Amino acid sequence: MKLWGGRFSKSTDKSVDDFNSSIRFDSRMYKQDIRGSQAHAKMLGKQGIISKEDSELIVKTLGEILVDIEDGKVDFTIDAEDIHMNIETILISRIGDVGKRLHTGRSRNDQVALDTRLYLRDEAEELSQMLDSLLSSLLDIADKNLDTIMPGYTHLQKAQPITFAHHIMAYYEMFSRDKSRLCDWKERMNILPLGSGALAGTTYPLDRDFVAKELEFSDITKNSIDGVSDRDFVCELAFVLSMIMVHLSRFSEEIILWSSNEFSFVELDDAYSTGSSIMPQKKNPDIAELARGKSGRVFGDLMGLLTMMKGLPLAYNKDMQEDKEQIFDAVDTVKMCLPVFEGMLSTMTLRKDKMLRGAKGGFTNATDVADYLVKKGLPFRDAHAVVGKMVAYCLDKDTVIDALTLDEFKSFSDIFTDDVYDAISLETCVNMRKIVGGPAKDTMKKIIDEYRK
Ligand code: ARG
Repeated sequence: MKLWGGRFSKSTDKSVDDFNSSIRFDSRMYKQDIRGSQAHAKMLGKQGIISKEDSELIVKTLGEILVDIEDGKVDFTIDAEDIHMNIETILISRIGDVGKRLHTGRSRNDQVALDTRLYLRDEAEELSQMLDSLLSSLLDIADKNLDTIMPGYTHLQKAQPITFAHHIMAYYEMFSRDKSRLCDWKERMNILPLGSGALAGTTYPLDRDFVAKELEFSDITKNSIDGVSDRDFVCELAFVLSMIMVHLSRFSEEIILWSSNEFSFVELDDAYSTGSSIMPQKKNPDIAELARGKSGRVFGDLMGLLTMMKGLPLAYNKDMQEDKEQIFDAVDTVKMCLPVFEGMLSTMTLRKDKMLRGAKGGFTNATDVADYLVKKGLPFRDAHAVVGKMVAYCLDKDTVIDALTLDEFKSFSDIFTDDVYDAISLETCVNMRKIVGGPAKDTMKKIIDEYRK
């Protein structure tokens, strides 16, 4: 008979067991379920709601069940529907009536809310460490490339010269925002829902603060209806994960472009690329493509969660069981992407010569030519027009501004003198941009050192 079977005269149809049960995917929360139940049982004993001996036996047996699960000695069954009732059933099978006292003052509704919080909090900790590791690899790469000049782009058209360090540190900013979003998320979600009961709290004198402390929550939920029906923390985490995937995906797109023959800015390590079954010359950036592609499924998880929640009346509805596969998928996907992406990044070889050649073409110093004129007194709009004419001239002659003779320079404006060559060299262009946030070597180095601390 089901744990809840008292009022039923028939057992559920086999198809209903299949349809209704979540053990297939929520079994992964066994550790959190046991931890939560142990804290609950301890509190029940402390409050005299159950006897001290019963409380201790429950806590001890749950510990044994945990060991058995980890040793692969426990089979879960769909008859017991979900991880909560599976573990409770096993407990009862081991200690009989004592085990039946565990669920006093608790509902599966506040239990699942608790387990999900505990589980995602643990996963977020791992994600946070993965982000730390990626961030530190990015710092290493940037530190080694403070002088590596490359073209910066807007509209995927060459714009101004930057350094590879500068470019990489842009991703550092994105991933550190992801990290801080994860911290904010934890701050908001780290509250104990247990004690909300099914939706209306309970008449037992539970000590919620004690349980919160046991489970390392910083507070307790203040409304039992919301306590069981809130899945904001699931959606919010899915958003944080989606944002990480947006960043990985944009980065991937660049890696894919950079490793193309047309760019040739980077070469991926053999260990992080794949070949073609037919074209012998191919070396494909599959890791980056998969990371880009997998962003779609994480966004789908977020969209699925929001859609699942949007029409639900208060409080708990079974629809909410659907949160798990989606958030688990999102977590798993990001956890899979981050380390392999980091491995790909830190093993790729930079083709600095190709980057420099790229920066030399495409008039990336045109702004600096205009700025040169401005510094000598010409209004910026006039300078812009002069340089525009120079670019058109160079395009016609298939040359670049730096290659013009001083006479040619002077034919566009007599302000030009022979200090122009120095003023518009790529090194000058980069290193004059000392402004905080700019690519100049010293500025960049300062930021990298600061971040390392
Ligand atoms: N497996 C369920 C879930 O994930 C647990 C809560 C079930 N509560 C209930 N009253 N049916 O949401």
